[in-house]
Amino acid sequence: MTYEPPAIYGIIGHPLTHSLSPLMHNAAFKSLQVNAVYKLFPLGGDQELKLFMEDLREEGNPIFGLNVTVPYKEKILPFLDAVDPFAAKAGAVNTIVITHQRKMRGFNTDGPGFLSHLSELGFDPKGKRIAILGAGGTARAILSVLCLINDRPAGIKLYNRTVDHAQKLAAQLGQNMDASLVEVVHSPEDLNVELADCLINTTSVGLKGEDKLLIDPDAVHPDMLVYDVIYNPPQTALLKAAKSKGAQISNGLGMLYYQGILAFKHWAGVDIDGKCKAIMRKALQEGLKNES
Ligand SMILES: NC(=O)c1ccc[n+]([C@@H]2O[C@H](COP(=O)([O-])OP(=O)(O)OC[C@H]3O[C@@H](n4cnc5c(N)ncnc54)[C@H](OP(=O)(O)O)[C@@H]3O)[C@@H](O)[C@H]2O)c1
Repeated sequence: MTYEPPAIYGIIGHPLTHSLSPLMHNAAFKSLQVNAVYKLFPLGGDQELKLFMEDLREEGNPIFGLNVTVPYKEKILPFLDAVDPFAAKAGAVNTIVITHQRKMRGFNTDGPGFLSHLSELGFDPKGKRIAILGAGGTARAILSVLCLINDRPAGIKLYNRTVDHAQKLAAQLGQNMDASLVEVVHSPEDLNVELADCLINTTSVGLKGEDKLLIDPDAVHPDMLVYDVIYNPPQTALLKAAKSKGAQISNGLGMLYYQGILAFKHWAGVDIDGKCKAIMRKALQEGLKNES
């Protein structure tokens, strides 16, 4: 009898303590009876990242796929052999496929994952007015996909605590795509939430119960979608306030799910069947229930 060691997949980042990705991907491996395991690889700094990426090149390394999260989504690019066009334009990679020849190709499934979730929610961004809070990695992916789709929003107003970060992000994206629909504003009031069709929070504000709202909740109206990329807590103060104003609300668990489905598809080389997708989604929902 021969022993086949499992193929290893995982996530690199720091910190990783609350990642739900292992639950989702390990549930899929189990359901598909694939001899593989998904692990956490916390990397405490740039030097650790460099050594880890060097090890990945070694013949016999059992790691065949990775997710990448903060703070490495941008820093990872120089280590890769190839980067898919969307990830290259967005300037961020959250998924890596590693071949048996130890070649590495990067993808970004955050942007398309967000779009798939919007579609599930019945929100078509075409011609819509979008307001975005935050200018970090998640905003980068969301802005990129909204700028690159064929049926683009009418306009995107972008506000960030550090205005300079928002300006730099918009300028960087403008070098890789037509980002002329993105307008950086200098105050939350200038987001004109009362006129927006969709408000998206991409900041980490809301993770803690005591976090103050970044916008005036009275600006929220019933004809809009308020989307918070945070999924733990499942209803941030922003979502609670938006719900009380009659707006459609969603947390970011669906985005996490769809980005994971797309990452798995890149690793497997084929789409996953509906039964396995349902198992992955249930694993995420139950993991979240156990965390809260
Ligand atoms: N649903 C999903 O699939 C998914 C995927 C990725 C991330 N997320 C969530 O998205 C959130 C952001 O992640 P990220 O990777 O984009 O992080 P990031 O790159 O570190 O960006 C953080 C953003 O939050 C802003 N911010 C932080 N503290 C703030 C405060 N007290 N007041 C105002 N703004 C503040 C930062 O503003 P400055 O520029 O001023 O610092 C920056 O715009 C996290 O909660 C993460 O869990 C969800």
